[in-house]
Amino acid sequence: MTPEFDLTTRNTFGLSSRARFAAEVTSAEDLEPLLGEARARNLPMRILGGGSNVVLRPYFDGVVALMSIMGREVLGEHGDTTLVRFGAGENWHEIVEWTVRQGLPGLENLASIPGTVGAAPIQNIGAYGVELVDRFHALSAIDTTDGSVHQFDREQAQFAYRQSVFKRSPGRFAVTSVTLALPKTWRANVSYPGLNDLPADVDAVTVMQRVMVVRAAKLPDWRETGNAGSFFHNPIVDSETAEALAATHPGLPVYPAGEGRSKLSAGWLIEKAGFKGHRHGSAGVSPNHALVIVNNGGATEGEISALAAEIRHEVLKKFGVRLVQEPELL
Ligand code: EPU
Repeated sequence: MTPEFDLTTRNTFGLSSRARFAAEVTSAEDLEPLLGEARARNLPMRILGGGSNVVLRPYFDGVVALMSIMGREVLGEHGDTTLVRFGAGENWHEIVEWTVRQGLPGLENLASIPGTVGAAPIQNIGAYGVELVDRFHALSAIDTTDGSVHQFDREQAQFAYRQSVFKRSPGRFAVTSVTLALPKTWRANVSYPGLNDLPADVDAVTVMQRVMVVRAAKLPDWRETGNAGSFFHNPIVDSETAEALAATHPGLPVYPAGEGRSKLSAGWLIEKAGFKGHRHGSAGVSPNHALVIVNNGGATEGEISALAAEIRHEVLKKFGVRLVQEPELL
């Protein structure tokens, strides 16, 4: 374990932060002694993958396990899918490219999402009409409370929109590998705006390249301007509330969310509350996409959280809608 470990380059927000201890984890076996050390010192332990969905406080008084378990293995056919297993530390976008380019399509709509494979199931990443749950088969995880090893299938993972059993118990499960099921009979999913001018018989490489272009045009690159992608969930409300809001606020995008529920566009609400391009010290709201809070250089967790609170307050006042933060505060 390295003491007083600097996490500033380990989070896509670029927030200045240190951990009391940190250690690289390159195999599932590395985790057990680390858990033992944390327990002996009575310190909490957290797993950090790509650091792309966290807001780091200046100091974490605990042990950070830097997830670096690598590995990519095509396991074989399973019904109408091909199973492929990945180490949790693999970079998500790299494995999207790797599968698509070798003729295993299915992940192309999820291109360019920052972060690691192990983090993908935690919040059931999703983009351009596809969610991780659509391609998920199973995962292995270690329960950090007692070191026991568990397998989770799709049902046990309890996925929902930006939600899973892992997200509901923050820090409890350390994902070590993820097995995805890629469809043997593939059809392009190009229904989402930005992709829907592509022909129905388009190939997966072209879809992937288009997703990369669309994302690059809308979402700031964290290597240039620190950010953690969407800062809030798209709120899910009952359909009556959504209809009433849409009647008083023409243009509000409303999407069906099943069982008499509707999903609203948080980006739209935040833009209409006047925050697009707004600055709050070194923190700000992206001028390209109101759902993305950015670090304009040297922002602290305090400034990011203060801006987020201001946005939540204004959106609640103007629309009566509560926004829920997407990245985890650590
Ligand atoms: N919009 C605005 N103003 C803005 C931004 C968006 O009015 O500044 C409205 C527009 O009407 C637009 C609609 O919101 O048509 C939807 O915007 P977009 O297609 O960019 O999607 P989103 O709902 O804002 C979600 C995900 C993204 C994902 C995109 C594409 C969440 C919280 N976010 O964003 O995921 O890439 O859809 O599928 O569900 C992430 O989670 O970090 C993330 C980037």
